[in-house]
Amino acid sequence: DELASALARGGPAMPMAALHRSGPLHWWDQAFGGCWLLSRHAEVEAALRDPRLSVARVAGWGELARQAGLAQPSADASPRFQRLLARALLFVDDPDHQRLRPLMQAGFHPAALQALRPAIEARLDRLLSALPAKGPFDAIAALARPLPAGVIGSMLGVPEAELARFAAGAGDLADLLATLDPQPALLRRAQRRLLILAGLFEPLIAARRAAQHAPAQPPHDLIDRLLAAEAAGLLPHADELLAQAVMLLFAGHETTRHLLGSLLQTVLATPGLWARLRAEPEAVPRVVREVLRLHSPVQYTVRRVAQGHERAGQWMARGQLLVLMIGAANRDPDRHADPDRFDPDRAAPGALAFGSGPHVCLGAALTLLEAELLLRELLRRWPRLALAEAQADWLPSPLYRGLGRLLLNRD
Ligand code: HEM
Repeated sequence: DELASALARGGPAMPMAALHRSGPLHWWDQAFGGCWLLSRHAEVEAALRDPRLSVARVAGWGELARQAGLAQPSADASPRFQRLLARALLFVDDPDHQRLRPLMQAGFHPAALQALRPAIEARLDRLLSALPAKGPFDAIAALARPLPAGVIGSMLGVPEAELARFAAGAGDLADLLATLDPQPALLRRAQRRLLILAGLFEPLIAARRAAQHAPAQPPHDLIDRLLAAEAAGLLPHADELLAQAVMLLFAGHETTRHLLGSLLQTVLATPGLWARLRAEPEAVPRVVREVLRLHSPVQYTVRRVAQGHERAGQWMARGQLLVLMIGAANRDPDRHADPDRFDPDRAAPGALAFGSGPHVCLGAALTLLEAELLLRELLRRWPRLALAEAQADWLPSPLYRGLGRLLLNRD
């Protein structure tokens, strides 16, 4: 029906209000071979925190690949492909999640982020200096894409010269995750690209591992910490460290890019806001949060029913998938007055853009830091920054909300 195809098209066509009107729970048969969809804030938040729901959904892709005849026992490609995704923090339940999360969190604690700040500022400065002196520029290609890619790349120890190759691999993975109905060709491509990405990381990690045997060094970055954890027996499974590196590259990359683009577009499309923020830069964090609510870069996440139960009057059978519509929950009229309106003065507590519960985004503070530094620096440099075209170029993706390009003028 109309609702279902609007959902699958995504982007600006996302039918948030229609979803809210038609109740808390929907059966969506065009996605993942049929799944439940939740769209209200209260229901989505409760589901994100519900231990009867599992995040381990990658196994389904392995099954699909097998059915499609993609598994290649000789090359052993499929099992590794599956493992590299399935062992990542994002896709593991307790007790593995409880073991992994603190190890990863150490790389994102406030002191670690403050230590990153000068490097982010320097990177931003390089990107801005590299812009052509005159004429409009595409803020997605010039800023929103390379800034987060460079930041996460340097956190993972990827050399600058290799960044583009790593980033391309992350993009392919994002395409797979955004697919509602994975077809064999896409799976095959994603499988190949993921193995290539892992192959790029392997020598980097091997070199670090060798260096760890040198006289005791305190761990100084995330990979060092993970290697120390591995040496202490805390990462016992094959490819477990590699799976985290691949996931972080992809998680730190696509999502923040979309936020930075939507942020600039939304602020510049609001009359008077640029001048106001120049005078009142302390309002920047609130504006970033409001853009996260309105244009949630990750529109949904998925859970699998691990334990059958009733929800909103329906029986959720073990094995069924639930799509949790974060983007719609963040526009729930029961939660946010006039939810489709951008309101820079809105206090938007509890917005779900970064998820909620045990899997809440590990990179939230890093993303907010990048967004704030970018916006403040542009406000400082260019009092007359303006949109060069009126129409926003929203991507046609059901999973990611963001812009394909964003042309801006400096004067
Ligand atoms: C988890 C959104 C940036 C790393 C999540 C989740 C969401 C999310 C919704 C929860 C998924 C679920 O429950 O199924 C976002 C958005 C971002 C962003 C909107 C930017 C605007 C980042 C960055 C990093 C990152 C920059 C890392 C550098 C992670 C990790 C998890 C996660 C590791 C999994 C945590 C866990 O499973 O315990 N993110 N994210 N994210 N995010 Fe982010």
